[in-house]
Amino acid sequence: MEQEISRRRTFAIISHPDAGKTTLTEKFLLYGGAVQLAGAVSARQNQRATTSDWMELERQRGISVSSTVLQFEYRDRVVNLLDTPGHKDFSEDTYRVLTAVDAAVMVIDAGKGIESQTRKLFEVCRRRGIPIFTFMNKMDRPARDRLSLLDELESVLGIAAYPMNWPLGDGAQFRGVYDRQSSRVHFFERVPGGAFRAPVSVHGLADPQVRDSLDPELYARTLDELAMLEGAGAGFDHAAVLSGHLTPVFFGSAVNNFGVQLFLDTFLELAPGPHPRQASGRVIGLESDAPFSGFIFKIQANMDPKHRDRLAFLRICSGRFERDMTVTHTRTGRTLRLSSTHRLFGRDRETLDEAFPGDVVGIVGHAHFRIGDTLATDPTLVYREIPRFTPECFAWLHSATTSQFKRFREGLDQLLQEGVVQSLLIKNSPQRVPLLAAVGPLQFDVVQYRLQSEYGAESRVEAAPWRVARWVASDVAEDGFDESLLPSGARVAFDNAGRTVLLFSEQWSCDFFAGRNPSLQLSTLPLDSVGETADARSAAA
Ligand code: G4P
Repeated sequence: MEQEISRRRTFAIISHPDAGKTTLTEKFLLYGGAVQLAGAVSARQNQRATTSDWMELERQRGISVSSTVLQFEYRDRVVNLLDTPGHKDFSEDTYRVLTAVDAAVMVIDAGKGIESQTRKLFEVCRRRGIPIFTFMNKMDRPARDRLSLLDELESVLGIAAYPMNWPLGDGAQFRGVYDRQSSRVHFFERVPGGAFRAPVSVHGLADPQVRDSLDPELYARTLDELAMLEGAGAGFDHAAVLSGHLTPVFFGSAVNNFGVQLFLDTFLELAPGPHPRQASGRVIGLESDAPFSGFIFKIQANMDPKHRDRLAFLRICSGRFERDMTVTHTRTGRTLRLSSTHRLFGRDRETLDEAFPGDVVGIVGHAHFRIGDTLATDPTLVYREIPRFTPECFAWLHSATTSQFKRFREGLDQLLQEGVVQSLLIKNSPQRVPLLAAVGPLQFDVVQYRLQSEYGAESRVEAAPWRVARWVASDVAEDGFDESLLPSGARVAFDNAGRTVLLFSEQWSCDFFAGRNPSLQLSTLPLDSVGETADARSAAA
């Protein structure tokens, strides 16, 4: 059991769109022997079946909308790679995935440096104390000055950076990297298409072969930079990496396989395995005899047209999972048998008999599961890992035709259960459908697309006039308050747990109302969920 736990490495790759996340994922799978030919994940060019980005919308718009899990063995490690959607718009789904990982790989386009989405995702990782490993990608293209790239990590993200390797040139001159740990140069050879492992030859820095094959000016500059890095002081501090204060930086080119294996090897050696987590005010350890526990971080229906069912993704936190085991669904107190459980690989799945902390189990057949729920043998355990977010976009969705209303409603209910968007009921509203509330408008597109493709229901969006939602402290809400005090246009609504929410058309009108009613406690999130969740919210902002 101890050995199995220590073998696990569960992580996500975060990046701004186009930095190379999909390409790097693909290369990891190639090195892990999980796919035969790189290209199986993105398949944007040749329309091959995709392994990771499975939705048509993703192909159409070049984004990944939903995320999946890829498990493979690499050397003595079991790697669980959780895919995060990489679109520009904010998505709650991405943030939820980050609750289930133990480390993150941050891919940066070395020609561009840190971009907006990288910053947001980094902030979430930092707040959760997740160790972050940086891959400076696309060194085969003209890159920004590498010292300034490192400076940027420190000045923009506020994290110390330690280059694990140093590039020999960039663009057409990119020949390889100097590995600072082994003091060896890894020379790369370009292979058309980058489909196979790039041949690498390894030399000492003073080796005439290295000296002769580099432009003399580049060679001299590289020596100077390396001397400067060594002189700059502090050695590599693994503890600082694990506490999230230092990011090891690796230069390379994912599409050419340059530096990918070096990165993967070092990353899997240095990244932390599963660690004890907090639940119900206790630390849940990883001892061999620890009882089983885990939490659901994602629910998705109709992932595969062949299996039109609802899959809950459970991250195991402690204990051994065995198929057919009995656990408590601690939110409802129900005991249930976990019989229909799967190991996931993209959209493929196979029956899973056994799993360990760090692993993700796909469970089907439990309609009452919600995102954030805990499954454990100890009925008192509750993980509170999943952040909640304050919605800023509101809309109604209508069935395009009356004849499709039944399908539309069934699909919408299902997607609301999945947590694709939040829903609110406006007090005394004549609307037949709930008000949808999201953090970014793309979430509405996803709902519409999925209604159409999975339920055959066309829909129409009607924008709602509100921009700001505030929850009211429950004791005040129960007593009721004078609704005539609300500014014009503001409305009272209820969330899906029946809590009172006030909707305002503008921030100033909310501030004005709050100023006039100081005794009324207003909150950006339901008060029972404020805490770790507020952190995630401010990161999102
Ligand atoms: P993402 O998942 O982060 O959005 O990025 P993705 O891997 O899809 O990569 C975005 C584009 O960058 C792709 O080109 C990809 O081939 C290219 N790319 C990735 N790594 C490197 C690299 O090391 N060097 C260079 N020069 N390019 C790289 P595309 O033209 O948009 O797609 P495709 O037609 O090549 O699939």
